[in-house]
Amino acid sequence: MELATEFIGFAGLSHHRAFPDEVEIGWRLALPAWGHGYATEAALACRDLAFDVLGLRRIISVTTAANQRSWRVMEKLGMSVWRDDVPFEQWRLRVYALQRPLPRST
Ligand SMILES: CC(C)(COP(=O)(O)OP(=O)(O)OC[C@H]1O[C@@H](n2cnc3c(N)ncnc32)[C@H](O)[C@@H]1OP(=O)(O)O)[C@@H](O)C(=O)NCCC(=O)NCCS
Repeated sequence: MELATEFIGFAGLSHHRAFPDEVEIGWRLALPAWGHGYATEAALACRDLAFDVLGLRRIISVTTAANQRSWRVMEKLGMSVWRDDVPFEQWRLRVYALQRPLPRST
């Protein structure tokens, strides 16, 4: 049986031009795919890849002042605001960050 597939967007890890020393989780979905939890599901997988597979200690996510949907996705990843109203090119950026929890000592 042939499965129908459709490209709806991406999520992944990269270096943002404004913060090249940090690892950023980013995403972008086509409008018909919004509102189904896909961005959160994909971003959670990226967060777990960063911490559990790549062994990173910290990740960030960069957005603009107007992008409240993305703020919400970042909050659902457990992130909190690190920098706000950062001027970059024609934008004012809000940046969320998350530290990897330290392993519990038993
Ligand atoms: C940002 C984006 C990926 C969100 O996709 P999505 O699949 O709708 O996201 P999710 O469904 O996983 O979660 C969206 C959350 O935002 C909430 N939300 C939706 N509209 C909102 C609004 N206007 N204000 C605040 N929160 C809003 C939803 O209720 C949901 O939170 P909840 O689960 O607590 O109810 C999508 O809007 C997009 O691709 N936008 C254009 C590109 C972009 O902005 N990329 C990111 C650059 S940082």
